[in-house]
Amino acid sequence: MTEYNKENPFPGKITDRFILNKKGSTKQTFHLSLDLSGSGIAYKAGDAIGIFPENPPDQVSALLEALGKGGHEEVTDPRSGAEMTLEHFIKTKTNLLRLTTPLLKLLGDPELLAQENKQDRAQFIANHDLIDLFTMHPPTAPLQEIISYFSPLLPRFYSIASAPSLSPTSVDLLVATFSYTHANKEREGIGSQFLCKNAKLHETPIPTYLHPTSTFTLPSPDKPILMIGPGTGVAPYRAFLQEREQTGASGHNWLIFGERNRKTDYYYESYFTSLEKRNFLRLDLAFSRDQIDKVYVQHKLLENGPDVWNLIQSEGTIYICGDARHMAKDVTIALHTIAETEGKLSPSEAKDFFKHLRRDKRLLLDVY
Ligand SMILES: Cc1cc2nc3c(=O)[nH]c(=O)nc-3n(C[C@H](O)[C@H](O)[C@H](O)COP(=O)(O)OP(=O)(O)OC[C@H]3O[C@@H](n4cnc5c(N)ncnc54)[C@H](O)[C@@H]3O)c2cc1C
Ligand SMILES: NC(=O)c1ccc[n+]([C@@H]2O[C@H](COP(=O)([O-])OP(=O)(O)OC[C@H]3O[C@@H](n4cnc5c(N)ncnc54)[C@H](OP(=O)(O)O)[C@@H]3O)[C@@H](O)[C@H]2O)c1
Repeated sequence: MTEYNKENPFPGKITDRFILNKKGSTKQTFHLSLDLSGSGIAYKAGDAIGIFPENPPDQVSALLEALGKGGHEEVTDPRSGAEMTLEHFIKTKTNLLRLTTPLLKLLGDPELLAQENKQDRAQFIANHDLIDLFTMHPPTAPLQEIISYFSPLLPRFYSIASAPSLSPTSVDLLVATFSYTHANKEREGIGSQFLCKNAKLHETPIPTYLHPTSTFTLPSPDKPILMIGPGTGVAPYRAFLQEREQTGASGHNWLIFGERNRKTDYYYESYFTSLEKRNFLRLDLAFSRDQIDKVYVQHKLLENGPDVWNLIQSEGTIYICGDARHMAKDVTIALHTIAETEGKLSPSEAKDFFKHLRRDKRLLLDVY
């Protein structure tokens, strides 16, 4: 049987896709189901998948135009050695945003380019994409040489939001879309836009491979777990809860979820509340924009310090998933505060305590 991996991804198909936010929300986060039947991919709760996205069609056309090419020209992908049309190479293999040094050198002395634009080199790179570059400097070098200096389009990772015991041949995903400005243009994330908007249901192949975790896994079924996950960070916890339900695990489950507004951004509300009603789940919620002062998941942790400390003392595992830059750091600080106030540890003892907890795989992070 064919083995699918990063070098040979499986062409999955999106079979279901809907927006999780309700009308009036300030966000657009989607639920997707990706069919992997026939792939032989066997996942576990906590794993993620890698997908190779495609660039948006209008940007592919714009780069072809800037290069003065039709797209049907045959090129060789310098990384895999595979032959393909230029259009396919730009669509699936090229990072359109990144200007590499050899590419700048090929088109002229980077210092000259920079002078010409009255900007220093770093600023030049930050303010231009490939389309701008070739529009300003129509290329004369051989096509194969030019494309060999393009930066590769890298895979994107998404936590699996379903359990294998319930969905053995498909995976659910929770994908946030967003806009941002780069090189003076309003853009959307490449991977999220591809999955949530451009890929056609049942049609577009989504090159997929398993990105397994060795650590972000469920403990033995009788042990309690505390899952902290604002935004898309909640994805693997849906998988954990489905898995614990399916397998009749007796350990106590506690979820702290957060998003902007309760009315519009409470993902999987009916599933989580049904588990809560059955006493299968303790649920604490932090909707940051429902009041003047921000309420975040770490505030819920601090409000419930004695219960958090008790869970740690009962051989519980704590999971943190989602934003790495701010949330994970602030949640870690809150946990240290709880160890100091409830466990009466000094700051350095608390530091050591969590170092050991991480080493024992009872404080697990999956942050991005
Ligand atoms: C192990 C792992 C699991 C992950 N799981 C998930 C998941 O379950 N769901 C999910 O949606 N993502 C998840 N991610 C993040 C995901 O892989 C992508 O990084 C994310 O979708 C953005 O990729 P993109 O191609 O859409 O954006 P890109 O085209 O790569 O654009 C990224 C640019 O946008 C900025 N940016 C990124 N995110 C945002 C945002 N939300 N708002 C504003 N600006 C932003 C970045 O700083 C950067 O400048 C995970 C990442 C890892 C490593
Ligand atoms: N590059 C960027 O500019 C940028 C911006 C946002 C997100 N991201 C990334 O996008 C990915 C997914 O985002 P997402 O849509 O899942 O949700 P998210 O942006 O992480 O937001 C989810 C919830 O977390 C809250 N939050 C913000 N800062 C927090 C903090 N310091 N501690 C705890 N909670 C905090 C948000 O509140 P408020 O929004 O009301 O503050 C919101 O209620 C993550 O990888 C994140 O890193 C990147």
